[in-house]
Amino acid sequence: MQSAPVSKYRQFPPVHLPHRQWPNRTLTHAPAWCSVDLRDGNQALAQPMNVEEKLEYFEMLVGIGFKEIEVGFPSASQIEFDFCRRLIDENRIPADVAIQILCQCREELIIRSFDALKGAKNAIFHLYNSTSPAQRQHVFNASRSAIIKIATQGTQWVKNHSQALTAAGTHLRLEYSPESFTSTELEFSWEICEAVTDIWQPSTDNKIILNLPATVEYATPNVHADQIEWMCDRLTRRDKSLVSLHTHNDRGTGIAATELALLAGADRVEGTLFGNGERTGNLDVVTVALNLYTHGIHPNLDFSHINEIREVYERTTRLEVPARQPYAGELTFTAFSGSHQDAIKKSWSAQKPHEPWDVLYIPIDPADIGRSYKAIIRINAQSGKGGVAYVLENEFGYALPKLMHKEIGKIINDVADTKGTELSPDDILAVFRREYLERCAPIVLQHFKTTEHDSAVTCRATLTIDGASHELTGEGNGPIDAFTRALFDTSLPKFEILSYSEHSLGKGSEARAVSYIQIKTERGRPLFGAGIDTNIELASIKAIVSALNRCALQTATGT
Ligand code: KIV
Ligand code: ZN
Repeated sequence: MQSAPVSKYRQFPPVHLPHRQWPNRTLTHAPAWCSVDLRDGNQALAQPMNVEEKLEYFEMLVGIGFKEIEVGFPSASQIEFDFCRRLIDENRIPADVAIQILCQCREELIIRSFDALKGAKNAIFHLYNSTSPAQRQHVFNASRSAIIKIATQGTQWVKNHSQALTAAGTHLRLEYSPESFTSTELEFSWEICEAVTDIWQPSTDNKIILNLPATVEYATPNVHADQIEWMCDRLTRRDKSLVSLHTHNDRGTGIAATELALLAGADRVEGTLFGNGERTGNLDVVTVALNLYTHGIHPNLDFSHINEIREVYERTTRLEVPARQPYAGELTFTAFSGSHQDAIKKSWSAQKPHEPWDVLYIPIDPADIGRSYKAIIRINAQSGKGGVAYVLENEFGYALPKLMHKEIGKIINDVADTKGTELSPDDILAVFRREYLERCAPIVLQHFKTTEHDSAVTCRATLTIDGASHELTGEGNGPIDAFTRALFDTSLPKFEILSYSEHSLGKGSEARAVSYIQIKTERGRPLFGAGIDTNIELASIKAIVSALNRCALQTATGT
């Protein structure tokens, strides 16, 4: 990198707009959307989609709710031409959807584009030419007036050649893009848009679409908003024009630039699903739409099944949605940090069904976009106790007492640390079962029975301790007390019971009881045991045995 980049790179000039309005506005409604996946997105693929893939993609866009879809550049390639024809000839375009085609300002290409559009019910003819000083100088070697002439001549040709199409019943609109708008002098962009509008003569019923592209993103989003507000304020036929945004993402701020430019007065947004497009991509429509949704504004696009949309996208574009992509990424609803997991768990259980969404760290209810709660918390060595308890309760129904969370959290973290990977819910269950429910050394409970007389309970138990069988009897105020006293006659360490809880697991005839008992031996620290049985009494006796077995292991290993 340069030590003084100022000598190599220039600052982007600000727009003089002292009375700018956009910073004080809020978004109140969704814009009109136009998908450019099948043109701008497709042209940026290492392996462009074949016709079958495009058809599948088109249907998906329709299903999402796009009413304007740019289907290609039919005058530039036979495949794009054929695709456009198939959509029309096979009646695949719903009546309320307009197909849009891109074309340069050349008469033979315009004529060919109209051949592609013949028979369409609703169409947008998208005409463009480059307008920036660098394009004028290096690529076209043309003056400003020559560049305006290209645009106006192109518009006139579209007007002339459109007549047969509109006479045959096609509802046709014109979109004009001064390509590289954001790198063009604002006065010049305005002049060329006005000149095109003069030729086209739009009406309030058939507005011209003035698409103002950030073909390459060079400035901060506030500058983009200023540029759009500047144009919206000066267009003489603003009521007969739709101002459209088309941002690319070279600085990684295409989404922010679009959102601020909507505040600045734009009516329409062009972009692609998940931001596919040249270089760093086009605007990601999914994110802008769902950002609106999470502010209570329906975007008029339906992402209820975002995983399925992502699957079609990944298969047809051969691109991957990054794991951290907003809303759609694999890890979007995953919290690795223990404190985050804890906050999610607490705020999620406090969330009331009909109250505004307020779950910490999760700005959208994953269920609204067809994603599941299940994958929300993953456990690795950094995860906190809350996450493990959440998984055991929500995935498997074990509602561990709060006091036990820390103990199980530490055990799971140690396993994750040793494994070096995150643990799945099934891994967590397996560790829990091994550690608490299936531990059978040195003590194995063979038999346990109680009898009651007056207010006392007598128990008879058969245990093996280190392989030797013991017949025990004890009396107490309940089965747990009786069993605890019976154990005092053995070599096992003396202990007291610190806490006890139980709940049922499963329903109906399959239901079992699970109990959690925390004990403390004379010299050891408190620890839990857990037991399961169809008989609630036996579940708690098993929990004591589990705690004693864990205690014996800790004594043996010095842990
Ligand atoms: O990025 C761009 O400027 C374009 C135009 C053709 C609209 O894709
Ligand atoms: Zn583009």
